[in-house]
Amino acid sequence: MSDSRAWDQRYAGEGFAFGAEPNLYLRSLAPRLRPGLRALALGDGEGRNGAWLAGQGLATTSLDWSPVASAKARVFAATQGVAMDVVTADLTAWEYPTAQFDLVAWIFVHLPAGDRARVAEGAVRSLAPGGLLALECFSPAQEGRRSGGPKEPSLLFTRSIVETLFAGLETLELLEGAVLLDEGPKHQGQAEVIRALFRKP
Ligand SMILES: C[S@@+](CC[C@H](N)C(=O)[O-])C[C@H]1O[C@@H](n2cnc3c(N)ncnc32)[C@H](O)[C@@H]1O
Repeated sequence: MSDSRAWDQRYAGEGFAFGAEPNLYLRSLAPRLRPGLRALALGDGEGRNGAWLAGQGLATTSLDWSPVASAKARVFAATQGVAMDVVTADLTAWEYPTAQFDLVAWIFVHLPAGDRARVAEGAVRSLAPGGLLALECFSPAQEGRRSGGPKEPSLLFTRSIVETLFAGLETLELLEGAVLLDEGPKHQGQAEVIRALFRKP
């Protein structure tokens, strides 16, 4: 999907396209989080990850270009009883603040190469020293599988793309392999992903 209107359509129905529970990789990072940290959830869709981070006590900004997703994320945060700043903006055009976040969550956001590099640059800039960047995205081995992800192969993440994008960060982990997704109707079944955690020096 290549524009916000297409995502609006995808999010138009009832329910949550990628579920209401947070992404499992993000949830596994809970021991590294503590209340008061500042988080940015990129391409946060209907807000499952942002709202979970806010529920962990993080001051969370949830960013997505789909107004429909943003509206659903606001309602979702309210029903979860958490405060979350929901921003409707294009990730490639947003003015990333400098050193403002302790965690950036980049979960299943697949962008064309130029946009990907621009967003990575902004995301890295927005991290405070010691801040973490958590990423989960589909790898090329996902091509042809029906468990989720973009149909356009150039949007998939390879290990070397990830290493290049975040070369300025310390790699805490970089994992590639099969996982079993159970994230709403759009992410179901065995899938090939990259999971990575980086820290800004
Ligand atoms: C596969 S969904 C994942 C949503 C969420 N991260 C999750 O895991 O539930 C990808 C999201 O990225 C958003 N997105 C894609 N390109 C974007 C852009 N250029 N600016 C802002 N959001 C974008 C889409 O609107 C969509 O909500």
